[in-house]
Amino acid sequence: MAKKVITLTVNGETHEQLVEDRELLIHTLRERLNLTGAHIGCETSHCGACTVDLDGRSVKSCTVFSVQADGSSVTTIEGIAASDGTLHALQEGFRIEHGLQCGYCTPGMIVRAYRLLKEIPDPTDDEIRWGISGNLCRCTGYQNIVKAVQYAASKLRVKEAAE
Ligand code: FES
Ligand code: FES
Repeated sequence: MAKKVITLTVNGETHEQLVEDRELLIHTLRERLNLTGAHIGCETSHCGACTVDLDGRSVKSCTVFSVQADGSSVTTIEGIAASDGTLHALQEGFRIEHGLQCGYCTPGMIVRAYRLLKEIPDPTDDEIRWGISGNLCRCTGYQNIVKAVQYAASKLRVKEAAE
């Protein structure tokens, strides 16, 4: 089986890994780098539980070969909070607005919403629903997820205005 050394910068740390051509990014993150926040729900690109940020785009890491990500920067849920542990506004929003129940979809939801709010800082509810339409949640009915993202959007806008 062909193997290749790849370099990934994940949450600001650079890693070199020897991977098979067929290895998926979600497996490199979870099994080699021990970053188990991104979940595996379907491995067929339907559920979005494996969503990570790859060079400024949301991707389902079960649909990306690790060799395709060679040289890229990846942000996972482990890289969303501040380095001192302060929660990101999205994490706070999901907690305050009860945007999760079992939590299985939550890392993917938050990482997806992180990019969505960079693309659309003041989204409508419909834009949030469209923006997270690739991420499935079996528990919440989405209502509180939308509220959580709106909470974060509002908080981030206030923060940006103050800077
Ligand atoms: S595990 Fe990747 S989309 Fe479901
Ligand atoms: S909180 Fe359970 S799947 Fe979303």
